[in-house]
Amino acid sequence: MIFQRPKHLKGELTVPGDKSISHRAVMFGSLAEGTTEISNFLQGADCLSTIDCFRKMGIEIENTPDRILIHGKGLHGLSVPSDVLDTGNSGTTTRLISGILAAQPFETTLTGDASIKKRPMRRIIEPLSMMGADISSVNGNDCAPLHIVGGPLHGIHYHSKIASAQVKSAILLAGLYADGVTKVTEPTVSRNHSEIMLNCFGASVSTEDTTVTIYPEPVLHGQKVMVPGDISSAAYFIAAGLLVPGAEVLIRNVGINPTRDGILKVAEAMGGKITYLNVNQSGEPTADLLVEHSVLHGITIEGEIIPTLIDELPIINVMAACAEGTTIIRNAEELRAKESNRIDVMVDYLSAMGCNITGTNDGMIIEGGNPLHGITVDPRLDHRIAMSFAVASLFADGETKITDSDIVTVSYPNFYEDLYRLTH
Ligand code: S3P
Repeated sequence: MIFQRPKHLKGELTVPGDKSISHRAVMFGSLAEGTTEISNFLQGADCLSTIDCFRKMGIEIENTPDRILIHGKGLHGLSVPSDVLDTGNSGTTTRLISGILAAQPFETTLTGDASIKKRPMRRIIEPLSMMGADISSVNGNDCAPLHIVGGPLHGIHYHSKIASAQVKSAILLAGLYADGVTKVTEPTVSRNHSEIMLNCFGASVSTEDTTVTIYPEPVLHGQKVMVPGDISSAAYFIAAGLLVPGAEVLIRNVGINPTRDGILKVAEAMGGKITYLNVNQSGEPTADLLVEHSVLHGITIEGEIIPTLIDELPIINVMAACAEGTTIIRNAEELRAKESNRIDVMVDYLSAMGCNITGTNDGMIIEGGNPLHGITVDPRLDHRIAMSFAVASLFADGETKITDSDIVTVSYPNFYEDLYRLTH
């Protein structure tokens, strides 16, 4: 894909369904009794990998253009998979499903693409093993492929060193099958979609400060799940709308769960004008976001806000590169464990475009305001890198070329069409 500076950016869009919530709706629907109906499901490669895994374990899933129907078989209804389970590029599928597989009365092997085979799995191997699970990395490098021999599990109280919803959710899902109560304490709160949705399905999950408690063996019942638009996908148009001179973008039906809305707080602290319209606070909160061109300035981003914007840091880097003054990002070492090493990749490519950016162990320092010029970007199997540089190209002289641009289908299959429509 080749991009050039646009003349304008204007219009309305609806971003695809939330990736985290779509994954969970398929998983919990499969473990529930009766039918779960999901609307606005993200038809992205990651969530399709989750569907594929549960189909291989005997769950009938109908995927039609307007809804997904999951014919759940209850907590103990999964069957021995017909094949190795392939989670593709999806860390969420790999880690969450491991918590379920650890408790099944059969063995499974989980594998994925070249990116997944480099991502750290010790973070789930350790707590699941403490619960009694037999889970190992086939190549002994703490990465996928993983071999899991399911069996009886114990409830534990796990104190996680990292704020990770994938780790927390893997333990909570294993906790559904444990012989007692399971608790997870995190250093700061990570996204809480599992807690909200498990309770809707009939589980008993409570949260106090940074500790989540789950009781075992609930009967889960099929639900109607309305997936809100993904704030992580909206983030690219929030950034573009704030930065392109004269821009005005209305993004409809965006999920604004407070454990996910750090990008909105950061945008506002940088001087961005975003108006919330049609706010709906029931269940997973949503709003329409009106984003208007603003002059942005650098800020410091650190501490407990980091987990609430972790997936948005690449596009926040682009905002910082175009803002006036210095932006400092700290406590974001988790960026090194994503689909790519997002600290190194952002520093490499933003520097190549002319930005003054320095990587640190746990973040980056960006001196905004340098003129940017077009380059060629290989997104390294990372959808968010591809989309961040498509947006950066809007502010660069000359052409920006993105190779392997199809990687955006992981979370936002129509991303380039939406960007083209708003800029033409
Ligand atoms: C996710 C949690 C986050 C996030 C990922 C989706 C989830 O990962 O980066 O894109 O759906 O639970 P971590 O749990 O590793 O922080």
